[in-house]
Amino acid sequence: MRALVLAGGAGTRLRPITSTSAKQLVPVANKPILFYGLEQIRDAGVTEVGIIVGDTAADIEAAVGDGSALGISVTYLRQEAPLGLAHAVLTAADFLGDEDFVMFLGDNLIEGGIGDLVASFERDRPAAQLLLKQVPDPERFGVAVLADDGTIERLVEKPADPPSDLALVGVYLFTSAIVDAARRISPSARGELEITDAIQQLLDDGQTVRASRVEGWWLDTGKKDELLDANRIVLGTVTQRIDGDVDQDSTVTGAVVVEAGAVVTGSVLRGPAVIGADARIVDSYVGPFTSIAEGCVVTRSEVEFSVLMQGCVLTDVPRIEASLLGREVRVSRGARRPAAHRLLLGDHSDVELAEGS
Ligand code: TTP
Repeated sequence: MRALVLAGGAGTRLRPITSTSAKQLVPVANKPILFYGLEQIRDAGVTEVGIIVGDTAADIEAAVGDGSALGISVTYLRQEAPLGLAHAVLTAADFLGDEDFVMFLGDNLIEGGIGDLVASFERDRPAAQLLLKQVPDPERFGVAVLADDGTIERLVEKPADPPSDLALVGVYLFTSAIVDAARRISPSARGELEITDAIQQLLDDGQTVRASRVEGWWLDTGKKDELLDANRIVLGTVTQRIDGDVDQDSTVTGAVVVEAGAVVTGSVLRGPAVIGADARIVDSYVGPFTSIAEGCVVTRSEVEFSVLMQGCVLTDVPRIEASLLGREVRVSRGARRPAAHRLLLGDHSDVELAEGS
């Protein structure tokens, strides 16, 4: 059994973060999203991992390396362009050979790991085993229609008029039959080789495609609000650990992690929240569901329900919430006249000013 992890793609819905870095490396509770999947793959006993990479290959390779730090052995597979999930399978054909494999979308998180799923697949070896989850917005996903006996009847990709509310979760198990099926499909209306079409091909061939429901949470972090939600849910699983310095004038309530080298003075930290290594929090408030990455400096500011990536600097900012800040973003309040917002924003940035500010 091998693993195929998809860390290419365009990431258009998470611009401008994805204009300069890979969306799979955006941190959730201060750990890149991609690492959660890689750890779950390793914990399921799968160590030969192919990672599909695109334009952000250098970033992904710098973060994951040869995989030994995570206990896996990584082969990088360059996809010429983000031409779809089934195209990624074809890109990996040589790496996969005739082995069974688990395919994991690098921006997806699921609760509880994949150990049971892998074990049941290895026992019965259907051509494909899918995970399904009931969602309120099925038009955004690949959707499964079940027959009365619970088996899969057909699959549709991002249907305008969804025939069911069962979305395909971004973890799939396949035998090598999927490679042959992917070779026989044509690009969809949006120009991609869809994995749903390749699986439909297996169904049309009369092969066994099984599905089970995901009981816990499943998070697809392709957009800002989804990412903040993922951060909120994962932070809900941390317990308090203070390895950095928190002075007498600070108050820490709830599940707060302060990493070694971080310094907190005169501040209120209300968990769940994580403060990364070597960050400095000075005369500030850090509220629930906030992840502050290493090297950030927050001074006389308030931040809640947000993700700050490495090296951000907040100075005299009265309140930030529901925000995702990329690496080394600076936000400050100045006394310069005329009193005005002065912005230097990359393409596709998104700023919402508070009323009356
Ligand atoms: P998506 O989120 O469906 O696609 P995307 O990354 O292109 O994002 P957007 O729609 O915002 O432009 O992809 C799911 C995962 O699969 C994600 O981790 C990127 C990866 N992927 C590939 O590696 N190759 C591909 O051809 C595609 C489409 C996605």
